[in-house]
Amino acid sequence: MTEYSNVETTPAVPEASSMIETFRAIGYNVETAVADIIDNSISAGASNVWVNFEWKGSETWLSIKDDGSGMNNEELIQAMRPGSKNPLEDRGSNDLGRFGLGLKTASFSQARKLTVLSKKLGCAPAYWTWDLDYVNQTGQWNLIKYLPENLNEQEYSENETGTLVMWTDIDRVVKHFRQNDNNALEKFLHVMELVKKHLAMVFHRFIESKKIKIYFQNYLIKPWNPFLIGELAIQSFSEEQLNNGKVVIKGYVLPHKSKISDEIFRFAEGTKGWNEHQGFYIYRNERLLLAGDWLGLFRKEEHYKLVRIQVDIPNSLDGDWQIDIKKSVARPPLIYREQIKNYAVKVRAQGVEVYRHRGKTVKISNGQKFVPLWIDHKRGNKWFYKVNRDHPLLELVIAQAHADPGKAIEILLRFLEENIPSKSIYIKSAEEPEAQGFPFEGSDKEPIRKAMESMFISLTAKGKSPEEAKAIIARIDPFDQFLHYLEFIN
Ligand SMILES: Nc1ncnc2c1ncn2[C@@H]1O[C@H](COP(=O)(O)OP(=O)(O)OP(=O)(O)O)[C@@H](O)[C@H]1O
Ligand SMILES: [Mg+2]
Repeated sequence: MTEYSNVETTPAVPEASSMIETFRAIGYNVETAVADIIDNSISAGASNVWVNFEWKGSETWLSIKDDGSGMNNEELIQAMRPGSKNPLEDRGSNDLGRFGLGLKTASFSQARKLTVLSKKLGCAPAYWTWDLDYVNQTGQWNLIKYLPENLNEQEYSENETGTLVMWTDIDRVVKHFRQNDNNALEKFLHVMELVKKHLAMVFHRFIESKKIKIYFQNYLIKPWNPFLIGELAIQSFSEEQLNNGKVVIKGYVLPHKSKISDEIFRFAEGTKGWNEHQGFYIYRNERLLLAGDWLGLFRKEEHYKLVRIQVDIPNSLDGDWQIDIKKSVARPPLIYREQIKNYAVKVRAQGVEVYRHRGKTVKISNGQKFVPLWIDHKRGNKWFYKVNRDHPLLELVIAQAHADPGKAIEILLRFLEENIPSKSIYIKSAEEPEAQGFPFEGSDKEPIRKAMESMFISLTAKGKSPEEAKAIIARIDPFDQFLHYLEFIN
């Protein structure tokens, strides 16, 4: 242990202006910043949250108001301090906070002024403002007693409680925007739309269970549930528990496009689109942290886009799961990675089936099994695709062949052309790029040699010289890959 009593000391207080820029650079966007503020409202037991904004060009303001328990003056000052709580402190099981930073870092990331007005039962309303320009000028971490002009100290009546967070001078969003510039307004509204969608997603479980109502410019936000619960064609897997039941995983394979309405299809697309939304959905105390991420275990690929896996973790495991300040990162502890991966492999396998066969193989109605036209199979270590000889179409074609062989062949070719198993081929070549077989690879090559010979005979019979006939054959697909057979034809 270092002995501190005799040691020389000197203050080295963090430099205000550079510290501010560091706080501003944590990497929030407006969506994640607003969500971080609402985390606090939920932790404070709010039933309602109102997100409001007023477009005024670069003077635009945004507020997040709740009816939670509120704070008195001392509590508010403590809350405004960066690092107001120790991240190592135990938190209540419904607390969405961890670092004692979110209110400040989220707000500073977007705005130069953060005003918080709060009212606790039996206390006078309290308010304080962080003004980054003031901190910069003075080099002092001092709050100022300031209320933006549109905010009234009596926002909450005598027996109401709650907290209102207001951002003004929102330079990260509306800097240099003029109020009468329609283009700028358009851009701003687009960003606000993203915020609304993000909140609908991140807090969907709170909204669904009626723990909270979030109003966005007085419009009640509807939840966005990533798993389409209630749709008939979803497939859900039984849950698996890890870490003595503290962590619960549950996999879903969403329906193929053909099984749902266009409206549901577009709804499920979410903010990022089907492909990006595949993967794990990590919930911490029911609050969504990650909305589709394979956690470095797999890559995102088109054919897994129907797979979404819910993972529930409690806030007591924040350290193990490496939760970050923005609540946008979570990494499973090493000891559970294998188990999580194995679970995902099962769900992903089913996801590919549904994607590839449009759910047909898994839907067996009246005891009838789905009959594929193409069958994929392995020869050696390469993939090949063969036409199902038991397909009823072939029987029809053979029957027709007696009467009109030309027509029968044409029908057969058309069906094959229109049903090339491109999805299967795509999936297999993405997974095993080296495993696509060449024609007749690993199989008897007599048919190809015979065909080349017949063609040679036919061409020479039509008057071509042997050299001419060979030159023609050498340019025909797939004979061009078997040129060595030509040497033996005479
Ligand atoms: N809306 C609110 N209602 C009541 N108390 C609040 C509210 N917002 C913040 N607080 C108080 O301020 C504290 C600091 O909030 P802040 O978001 O900075 O950190 P945190 O929520 O504790 O942790 P994190 O950094 O993980 O968000 C909270 O712990 C809470 O006590
Ligand atoms: Mg917080």
